[in-house]
Amino acid sequence: MNINNEQFLGKQLAANLFNRTGVFVLPAMTLLNSEHIRLIGQHKIILEPQDVIQVDSAAFYQIAVDDCTAAMENIFEQLRYNKSKRLPMIELRNEVIPFIQQVSEKNDFYGILAALQPKDDYTYRHNVAVGILSTLLGMWLKLRPEELGMLTIAATLHDIGKIMIPSEILTKAGPLSEEETALMRKHTTYGYEMIRDTVGTNHMQALVALQHHERMDGSGYPFGVLGHRITDFSKIVAVADIFHAMTSERFYRPAAPLYEVLRQMESDVFGKLDPYICRVFINKLMQSMLGNEVVLSDERTGKIILILAHDPLRPLVNIGEEFLDLSRHRDLGIVKVIPQ
Ligand SMILES: [Fe+2]
Repeated sequence: MNINNEQFLGKQLAANLFNRTGVFVLPAMTLLNSEHIRLIGQHKIILEPQDVIQVDSAAFYQIAVDDCTAAMENIFEQLRYNKSKRLPMIELRNEVIPFIQQVSEKNDFYGILAALQPKDDYTYRHNVAVGILSTLLGMWLKLRPEELGMLTIAATLHDIGKIMIPSEILTKAGPLSEEETALMRKHTTYGYEMIRDTVGTNHMQALVALQHHERMDGSGYPFGVLGHRITDFSKIVAVADIFHAMTSERFYRPAAPLYEVLRQMESDVFGKLDPYICRVFINKLMQSMLGNEVVLSDERTGKIILILAHDPLRPLVNIGEEFLDLSRHRDLGIVKVIPQ
């Protein structure tokens, strides 16, 4: 019965759902995840096409990311009060990972960014965002499917050690004191231990929790190891983590405009982040902005028409009759990208 219902994964229920004896099962507008499909199967309901509605991509991203965020909040809260600190992998695999994979498979980088913007739920949404962005990166880096599945879980759990950090520190408005910083940094080792001690995870995933704040030049934490000792998964998650943290509005500062973040990341390539992974990320994000209107530093408005592989942040722009190659006009730059 579940097999028939599987095809409705990622679609929304058109009306409240009741079983044959009139018991209420799920409310209208539920975006169906594998847990819901299992529940519907238990109630021996076979869904019909008219029971669901197809949502457009923007709505799908928003609902899927919101649902995953709520599920992550649940997982975090459960763990906070659970002495054993074993991660609920079944819940994670059923309620979070399938949506992260479905959103990533659409390969619509620019389209998903709005859904990743945190509301007052940064700690939870950030894990989902890093899960999606790392999965996209893994796809572009051509990881094998089994590696990609492993990476998605590792990335989604990268900050799980934060459940051991007092929430006053996690949500503090303003910079942390030296002591608070030292405590905050321990989320890496706490996360490592929790993943290591959970059945159904592997060492690579635990290492991502441990190493996602390490930097190529040894300036990171907790151990300050050099690039050759940082795993590829950790390097991928570091790029996704930095990008999402910089584009999100946090308690203590407004979000940096997208283009500004990319420029900053490009300069960080030297020394901190893996240069190849970072370049692939920037290239793909710029590619997804093809056709967007941009405002240049001389206040003219144009349209991005070609991304140049050697200098992706300085594309070919069409302004009226003119085609301007920004890689050759270094006095000019993009100051703003106007979403389509
Ligand atoms: Fe972290």
